[in-house]
Amino acid sequence: MGSNWVVCNCKLPVVLGVLWVLGFLWVLGFLGLAVQGSVTYDRKSLVIDGQRRILFSGSIHYPRSTPEMWEDLIMKAKDGGLDVIETYVFWNVHEPSPCNYNFEGRYDLVRFMKIIHKAGLYAHLRIGPYVCAEWNFGGFPVWLKYVPGISFRTDNEPFKREMQRFTEKIVNLMKSENLFQSQGGPIILSQIENEYGAQSKLLGTVGHNYVTWAAKMAVEMGTGVPWIMCKEEDAPDPVINTCNGFYCDAFTPNQPYKPSIWTEAWSGWFTEFGGPIHERPVQDLAFAVARFIQKGGSFINYYMYHGGTNFGRTAGGPFITTSYDYDAPLDEYGLIRQPKYGHLKELHRSIKMCERALILSDPIITSLANYQQAHVFTSESGDCAAFLANYDAKSAARVMFNNMHYNLPPWSISILPDCRNVVFNTAKVGVQTSQMQMLPVNTDMVSWESYNEDLTSIDDGSSTFTTTGLLEQINVTKDASDYLWYITSVDIGSSESFLRGGELPTLIVQSTGHAVHIFVNGQLSGSAFGTRENRRFTYRGKINLQAGMNRIALLSVAVGLPNVGGHFETWNTGILGPVALRGLDVGKWDLSWQKWTYKVGLKGEDMSLNSPNSISSVDWMQASLIVQKQQPLTWHKAYFNAPDGDEPLAVDMDGMGKGQIWINGQSIGRYWTAYAYGNCNGCSYSGTFRPPKCQLGCGQPTQRWYHVPRSWLKPTDNLLVIFEELGGDPSRISIVKRSVTSVCADVSEYHPTLKNWHIESYGKSEQFHNPKVHLKCSLGQSISAIKFASFGTPLGTCGTYQQGTCHAPSSYDILEKKCLGRERCSVTISNTNFGADPCPNVLKRLTVEAVCAPTSYQPSWRG
Ligand code: GAL
Repeated sequence: MGSNWVVCNCKLPVVLGVLWVLGFLWVLGFLGLAVQGSVTYDRKSLVIDGQRRILFSGSIHYPRSTPEMWEDLIMKAKDGGLDVIETYVFWNVHEPSPCNYNFEGRYDLVRFMKIIHKAGLYAHLRIGPYVCAEWNFGGFPVWLKYVPGISFRTDNEPFKREMQRFTEKIVNLMKSENLFQSQGGPIILSQIENEYGAQSKLLGTVGHNYVTWAAKMAVEMGTGVPWIMCKEEDAPDPVINTCNGFYCDAFTPNQPYKPSIWTEAWSGWFTEFGGPIHERPVQDLAFAVARFIQKGGSFINYYMYHGGTNFGRTAGGPFITTSYDYDAPLDEYGLIRQPKYGHLKELHRSIKMCERALILSDPIITSLANYQQAHVFTSESGDCAAFLANYDAKSAARVMFNNMHYNLPPWSISILPDCRNVVFNTAKVGVQTSQMQMLPVNTDMVSWESYNEDLTSIDDGSSTFTTTGLLEQINVTKDASDYLWYITSVDIGSSESFLRGGELPTLIVQSTGHAVHIFVNGQLSGSAFGTRENRRFTYRGKINLQAGMNRIALLSVAVGLPNVGGHFETWNTGILGPVALRGLDVGKWDLSWQKWTYKVGLKGEDMSLNSPNSISSVDWMQASLIVQKQQPLTWHKAYFNAPDGDEPLAVDMDGMGKGQIWINGQSIGRYWTAYAYGNCNGCSYSGTFRPPKCQLGCGQPTQRWYHVPRSWLKPTDNLLVIFEELGGDPSRISIVKRSVTSVCADVSEYHPTLKNWHIESYGKSEQFHNPKVHLKCSLGQSISAIKFASFGTPLGTCGTYQQGTCHAPSSYDILEKKCLGRERCSVTISNTNFGADPCPNVLKRLTVEAVCAPTSYQPSWRG
């Protein structure tokens, strides 16, 4: 395959006329002259058709879901208050070999852009083409590494030529479909490179030259919309430098005439096999967003808004899980994650209420107390918006602002779009929490059969070669497979002491990554793994050798190529040694420099056992699954019918070890049920967030469920194929559906001072609205039971609520009356609604957990 990789010489089409016109439009816009279909910027914000805008954006990476899911995701994003959808462009899926392009199916970028446009949203196209993104090789095609003389992401001619060629390919594709805003399309912003700042500093002049070249190259493409570079302090004009991080309020652009743009507001974090799940509390995310806005920021992109799935072998890392859920507002399956989604939606709405004041003025910051500040925006036309911040992570604060009192919970910001009324506080979550579960479905796996990789004849085939010494893995596989066999023989004399009851010899294998399985005379004798931070590892284990020839076969496994780090294209993978035996009569025997036979991939891969078309090319064994279950390197297959309904589906891999999954020939991704190691001792929303702060799932498989897109299924006879490296019990594999099983709400009554203040300031005539609890099940579901209800001082969190010392006895009755049998309901929090005040002078809450069930399964007593 590698030898076919030639550098393609596609001409760089420079459409000078278009370029000139678009450049002219850009200048007009820069001068503040409104041009239809123009995007420019000034120090306050992006300026679209002459209008400054506060924009909320969210990352949805098109290959991480299916085209059938795109519209739903984008409409949910719109409903969540987003104006913009951001995506990277993934070079390696679009150009699998030089000049052979693929824009089909999940890679149909044009279709994705058109859906965004149809939804009435804008797009931010981050072309990169380096994208990082926990994506294989950071988005670079592996063939790029083999372009003669290349050095990635630096002032290197071969690299610049390829980068420019691909960037032009994408820009021209977008232009040909009129997708830039300057052409009436959705794209208002584009990114070149990605977080190059640190690298640039390290490289000095060379780095600076490269950045200058990249900016010029991009701008000269004449898209008519601004370019940005994220985390790149010296982004040359007119490119805007932007911020990525958990917080960006300390960020200032490199020129006073550029707006503050936050390209990656991390909504959660990615997951590594063997690590825990990371969650970012929405109160902290909302606080970070409000902090950025109150400082004058005007564009925020959530990375990720929908994380999705690393199907196939697209996950980078190494060791990044197949799930890229990211604790995003839309979960991996595209379902709304509450309260994250709803709380951010309310945040967006409150900030939009302040938009005029925000775009027309700069904040005046006043100190209210030690850790409390007011940021006030007042425009000449009389708009006034205020943000009252409490940075104290431990204590609430009562502050005085404009002669009125306000209570600020710890680590929070209150938003006052009229400088009087609080419409939102980042720490007060009023929206419901939804509990999701993976539920069994009424479909069985039938006709399980297995096929073992034949270890006795791995090196018989034509696709093997023998050479002296140990080879780097990617140079051999070109990443066409995760697997590379390293096979050698050792001749053991019959006089060896260990053969007569002595201690067995030890095999030592040093690997540069990422995992290895050791087979001695066809038997699995051990495995070893690296980690994302430490790819190198050493296997050390006793092995069972016999007198005469012994075959040592090492299966080296790549688990996603690195996606970040200085010149990661030069990092090694595979067994570079030394490989040695210890404990023989001669002492140490270094095997590194003897003859090794190599074979790329598995026999099953050669025969495309994962594909429905070639599934019958081997004799599958109907052998009992019990016998099969501990067999390493085994292919398993079974058939199943598509479950009813439209809930998202997953395959439950509990009971299996490590390998890959295909359904009807589509790769679901790598699986690995390695147990999560971490510290899962609870998490407070307040205080600076970092991923280790809020971890979940310790002591359980990092990823047990693997997303099966509905659109990949036929009504009946879907073919499931598993390749298992270690051994597992396929009879435990099942299809499950993801459903909302219950919804919870926990809303506080208004503090009496706020209530009094409201009546004082607005008079009795002004209707005082008590807060409400809103509950909503998914479409097709309704509330079948009230599992918990307490108006008082309940304890615990959704799923584990308990009554506290104060509890209104009528709580259950009221909730059941209002909610049972309904898809949604709301209940006002007031003493009168619950009969009487259950504990006067105590601040109470209404806390509810309601069970959601498919409407057809409602018990008949509901009436
Ligand atoms: C950023 C990078 C993204 C992604 C993120 C972590 O630094 O720009 O592409 O890798 O980190 O999820």
